[in-house]
Amino acid sequence: MHRVVCPGSFDPVTNGHLDIIRRAARLHDEVIVVVGANLVKHGMFSLEERLTMLAEVTRDLPNVRVDKFTGLLVEFCRGQGVSAIVKGLRAVSDFEYEMEMAQMNYRLAEVETLFMSANPLYSFLRSSLVKEIARYGGDVTSLVPAVVHERLRGKLTAS
Ligand code: PNS
Repeated sequence: MHRVVCPGSFDPVTNGHLDIIRRAARLHDEVIVVVGANLVKHGMFSLEERLTMLAEVTRDLPNVRVDKFTGLLVEFCRGQGVSAIVKGLRAVSDFEYEMEMAQMNYRLAEVETLFMSANPLYSFLRSSLVKEIARYGGDVTSLVPAVVHERLRGKLTAS
């Protein structure tokens, strides 16, 4: 069984994340999409909301499951028999930070990192931009799954 993780803060999951998750699910036996619980404090969505949205948008992918982790990602990987971390790279600007984390995770626990190049359709896309556009009334319908769009609208009309 070849099991990988797609980690992130997913505040919220975007079409760019989903594209990487879907492509990873075609290449690996099992994909665990994991939300870093220690990163949740300052976000828009709670940990439970992020997990629920991820579960909804990956429902049609039988070899994908959603989970959370606290502490070091490599400890989660060790505990779950995960052989590699899958990350999407959108642009050269992502590379330095991601390379550092990949090398550190290998150094810490010999966990490999596999980089996938982002679909050019989504190379400009990140959760923080989506939230900003939505906050100012911009149209984000093509940037996030429909369930996420609904929840974004709910959050912003409630605030
Ligand atoms: O969506 P993000 O913010 O790019 O996700 C970053 C994440 C969660 C993958 C990264 O911050 C992480 O792995 N955090 C867990 C703590 C950890 O293991 N730190 C050491 C990294 S070398």
